[in-house]
Amino acid sequence: MPTRRSSGEAGRKPPGYDVSGREPQYDQQTARQGPTTNRMALTANQPGHSLDEGDIVVDWDALRERARWMAARAYAPYSGYPVGVAGVADDGRIVSGCNVENASLGVGLCAECGMVSDLIGGGGGRLVAVACVNALGEPITPCGRCRQLLWEHGGAAMLIETPEGIVTMDKLLPQAFGADDLDHLAQAK
Ligand code: THU
Repeated sequence: MPTRRSSGEAGRKPPGYDVSGREPQYDQQTARQGPTTNRMALTANQPGHSLDEGDIVVDWDALRERARWMAARAYAPYSGYPVGVAGVADDGRIVSGCNVENASLGVGLCAECGMVSDLIGGGGGRLVAVACVNALGEPITPCGRCRQLLWEHGGAAMLIETPEGIVTMDKLLPQAFGADDLDHLAQAK
């Protein structure tokens, strides 16, 4: 009889996981404490400027900290590369996610997938600013697929922190395909 492995293997580290020296380097204290708030006050830089003009003040330190907190919760035993992401929606809600891998390697979920689910499940809205970090707490740029996800829910003006500083989404995904393309064809019919 072949032995079947029991269920509930989440958290099990496959052989080899520890040898890479890529264990999360997160701040244990912060990870235990958890987030203290789920909201961020978004303020326009100058009176009379609206948030959708892109002239906003984002608490990047808070977003980065939340992203680090999520990276500390990632389930990334196969790649050994935990990722955490946090964003603020246009109503000030903070949304976040971490990567969740799978023994069927191709079906792992990127951190951004979780964050977008948090956004939509929590009432929707648009992403205004996003910070994505690795296990060292360093900013990373989203993979190609996740740029498309962020485009859908944040659009060209969404701000994102990268290793080269804060940029708008249209810098990360120039000439993006999006809902406008579908509308264009629908209107031409
Ligand atoms: N990963 C993310 O979660 N987001 C990204 O934008 C880049 C890659 C994850 C996927 C996989 O679990 C691990 O990082 C290594 O590629």
